[in-house]
Amino acid sequence: MALKGCLFDMDGVLVDSAKHHFVAWKRLAEELSIPFTEEDNHALKGLSRVDSLDRILRLGNMELNEATKLKLMHHKNEWYLNLIQGMRKEDILPGAAELIRELSDAGIGVGLGSSSKNAKLILDNVELSPFFKVVVDGNHITLSKPDPEVFLKGAQGLGVQPEECIVFEDAAAGVKAAKAGGFFAVGLGDPELLGAADIVKPDLKDVRLHDLTTWISV
Ligand code: BG6
Ligand code: MG
Repeated sequence: MALKGCLFDMDGVLVDSAKHHFVAWKRLAEELSIPFTEEDNHALKGLSRVDSLDRILRLGNMELNEATKLKLMHHKNEWYLNLIQGMRKEDILPGAAELIRELSDAGIGVGLGSSSKNAKLILDNVELSPFFKVVVDGNHITLSKPDPEVFLKGAQGLGVQPEECIVFEDAAAGVKAAKAGGFFAVGLGDPELLGAADIVKPDLKDVRLHDLTTWISV
């Protein structure tokens, strides 16, 4: 199958924003007197904002009504926005900008498939927006990863079939979503956590278009 499109998750694939999510969730957890570690934060990778809050509340055996949850998510997001407003192109993870530029030059459709409602803002801040033909983020989906909706909408926006498209993901929930949608999934990070991916690499540093065409045509 010829490669026609690539869909990128954002947090942990294009930029290391997980550290900012951690600071903001930690502050919220502390206000609720819920212990929250970096390990706990790893388990939130790829999950939507509300799913993340629900996990944190479960850690503290706490149940809250919807109005309170909305208020807490609003606070968390305000803190997070403060942290990401300073992000610049220097914050792009190694290899990501090079690969995206190469794909774009070769006429391969480049799209974003992120659970974050702040994705567009970050893409703009790090100056990657012009390369993205389609951006599907937390504002455009009703079902979050591991449901494939975000990537299926991305492929539709690019005008390609899932089999002609590669998804790049750093989260187990995201890899599951990609595979459920019929995509070739490249996991970025720990092979033990991303075992469901078709191939796992530590990051995008040495990943080039030539590698992608080889993987997808096997
Ligand atoms: C995902 C992150 O990309 O977006 C999660 O991996 C985050 O950690 C989720 O919770 C939602 O992000 P936001 O910016 O809408 O709160
Ligand atoms: Mg991610």
